[in-house]
Amino acid sequence: MSVLKLQPYKIFTVLITGMVLLGPGLVSGEKQLAYTSNTCLACHKDEEVLPEDFFKQDIHFISGILCADCHGGDSAEEDEELAMSARRGFTGVPSKRQIPAFCGKCHSKIEYMRVYRPRIATDQVQQYLQSVHGKKLGQGDEKVADCTSCHSAHRILPASDPRSSTHALNVPQTCKKCHSNSIYMKEYNIPTDQFEQYAKSVHGMALMDKGDLASPACNDCHGNHGATPPGLESISHVCGTCHLNNMQYFSDSKMGEAFVEQKLHGCEECHGNHGIQSTSDNLLGIGEKAICMNCHEQGDDGYITADALHKMLRRVVSLYDSAKVKRNKVQQIGMDDIEIGFLLQEAKQSIVQARTLIHTFDTVKVGQKTAEGYKKTKQAVILADNTINDFYVRRYGFGAATFFITILIVALFFKIREIDKQKRA
Ligand code: HEC
Ligand code: HEC
Ligand code: HEC
Ligand code: HEC
Ligand code: HEC
Ligand code: HEC
Ligand code: HEC
Ligand code: HEC
Ligand code: HEC
Repeated sequence: MSVLKLQPYKIFTVLITGMVLLGPGLVSGEKQLAYTSNTCLACHKDEEVLPEDFFKQDIHFISGILCADCHGGDSAEEDEELAMSARRGFTGVPSKRQIPAFCGKCHSKIEYMRVYRPRIATDQVQQYLQSVHGKKLGQGDEKVADCTSCHSAHRILPASDPRSSTHALNVPQTCKKCHSNSIYMKEYNIPTDQFEQYAKSVHGMALMDKGDLASPACNDCHGNHGATPPGLESISHVCGTCHLNNMQYFSDSKMGEAFVEQKLHGCEECHGNHGIQSTSDNLLGIGEKAICMNCHEQGDDGYITADALHKMLRRVVSLYDSAKVKRNKVQQIGMDDIEIGFLLQEAKQSIVQARTLIHTFDTVKVGQKTAEGYKKTKQAVILADNTINDFYVRRYGFGAATFFITILIVALFFKIREIDKQKRA
């Protein structure tokens, strides 16, 4: 680069970066000074790879970690070749295989990271290298996700920021880029319908349609950096991070033990993984939709228990349903239904708990709960019946009295007429 060409550029360097960075008033004090004399920025500000407004869109820029911190080089040097020379530490653009180490030079160093964020984890690279993505990258497979596939390179934001590609609401889209692309994934022998299934599942609908952050995104089951199928034994534990009781009951059950011995997939055997649907009592028992029948046969322990559990639940649920109809009637006739409401609420609670308890596959434990629910429901039914009766007794009682009085008046009328007749005669 000639000296002549460089001269006008030198003058503009400071002006242009000054305008770009001071304009929005985003950075202040010492940082502004550092930015305005940053030659990397001055030359690269219109770079296509940098997002518009990039200094607001990336946690590194926001925290004053700039081009040379990642790419090396000398950001005080105005000469292109010197600024980006290997002697000044310029490493340029990392190859895909170099990326984990490229990010890891900071992210794996506790002493370094602690200065910025005392509580940030520093095991991402380590975890990543043990994941299917990381292992395959190590073997030279360039199609797997590297750090930038999920985080981007120049638009990195913490997962708590709704704009981030790793924010819970955006994670499914981030994984979908590759995992739903059947052409891209052709050479691998795995399905490409995870997103499609997930989007229609209870979890996917709760997260993506309702914005319920308590519902799992892909990384809640697969880990952020350990992306591996959860593995046989750990599936119940993955689900159990949220469905604690279901996991506890199932793990403690005899069938749970048998599942481990026979290498069956825990929760997944009955509920699936990506397409998990909301449940119903029909899944239990010996009917057509009952999943118990996938493995059990007429007459065996599982069959008998399945049938018994289903009957216990149906007994209380059908009484509960009729109790609700009665409560509606009480409301319609304008009578007090508060106590009935309380009883039904308690009954509902027992039914909900019984449905979780079915994971013990124990008729005694479930039986206690359903009996509890049945008792409360029965009380509600009796109270509703009495209330409805009271209403009719009052209404018909009033009717009968009116009828009686009318008859009396009529009788009196005839009696008076008769007396009149007798007097006249
Ligand atoms: C005087 C202007 C100028 C300065 C100063 C400058 N660059 Fe560059 N940079 C360029 C140009 C022009 C290219 C494209 C060169 C090419 O395609 O061979 C480039 C390319 C790059 C690339 C891509 C390299 C590749 O292999 O594709 C990176 C990364 C980069 N610069 C980072 C930096 C960093 C970091 C700094 C500050 C330490 C910096 N640049 C300073 C002008 C500059
Ligand atoms: C957090 C670390 C980080 C920072 C900070 C950073 N980069 Fe990069 N940059 C990367 C990584 C990783 C890649 C390669 C992956 C990619 O291109 O997606 C890259 C790629 C590039 C490329 C090549 C793009 C291409 O498609 O070949 C250029 C040019 C570049 N960076 C310039 C800059 C400039 C200029 C800055 C400062 C404004 C900067 N980078 C700041 C990590 C960083
Ligand atoms: C020069 C050191 C350095 C390099 C290289 C670097 N980072 Fe960072 N990164 C940081 C620091 C420091 C923070 C914390 C900034 C803060 O919170 O103020 C950070 C923050 C982050 C965060 C947000 C963390 C959170 O949840 O708050 C992510 C994600 C991230 N970096 C990913 C990457 C990726 C991916 C790469 C490689 C492409 C990379 N970083 C390269 C230093 C670096
Ligand atoms: C398969 C996608 C994926 C890959 C690959 C990936 N990350 Fe992440 N990363 C995530 C997700 C998702 C989160 C956010 C999880 C959350 O907190 O909800 C995250 C969080 C982070 C954080 C914030 C702190 C933390 O651990 O929660 C840092 C730093 C980070 N990643 C760095 C890296 C680095 C460095 C690499 C490469 C070695 C990498 N990531 C590879 C998906 C990925
Ligand atoms: C850049 C593309 C890409 C992105 C983005 C990506 N993956 Fe992958 N992933 C792959 C490829 C390629 C494989 C290797 C497939 C194989 O060998 O079976 C893979 C493997 C996996 C596996 C192991 C599959 C198996 O049984 O072998 C899991 C689990 C996984 N990814 C989960 C995720 C999750 C979760 C995300 C998002 C947080 C994600 N991936 C993002 C490309 C990607
Ligand atoms: C509720 C937990 C859960 C969620 C959410 C979840 N997965 Fe999975 N995923 C699993 C389980 C369990 C397996 C199967 C593990 C086994 O049987 O070995 C699996 C398997 C996989 C596999 C291996 C291939 C396959 O289909 O069997 C990939 C790839 C994958 N998941 C990607 C994703 C992506 C992408 C998302 C988000 C769109 C996602 N997963 C969401 C639990 C989950
Ligand atoms: C991050 C927490 C989380 C994880 C992990 C998780 N779930 Fe869920 N799950 C939820 C939430 C929240 C709901 C309620 C969604 C809604 O609003 O409908 C739910 C709903 C369900 C339902 C429907 C319940 C009903 O009332 O019909 C089933 C079944 C289920 N999950 C099974 C699983 C299984 C199996 C796994 C593991 C493969 C799993 N979940 C992992 C949070 C989680
Ligand atoms: C042997 C089959 C089977 C296994 C294994 C199984 N479930 Fe279930 N699960 C069911 C059936 C059947 C129902 C429906 C009960 C009902 O509504 O009557 C159900 C209901 C549920 C519900 C909704 C009711 C509630 O508790 O809120 C959740 C959540 C659930 N299961 C989670 C799990 C989790 C997590 C695991 C693994 C720890 C698991 N299940 C293992 C069969 C199973
Ligand atoms: C994926 C296959 C599978 C499904 C689905 C399944 N079971 Fe089982 N079940 C087993 C295995 C394996 C055993 C242990 C071997 C045996 O005793 O037959 C077992 C045993 C049992 C036992 C006997 C445990 C004891 O106390 O000895 C009961 C009870 C049982 N299952 C109930 C159910 C119910 C209820 C359902 C439906 C909600 C169900 N099972 C669904 C595989 C399954």
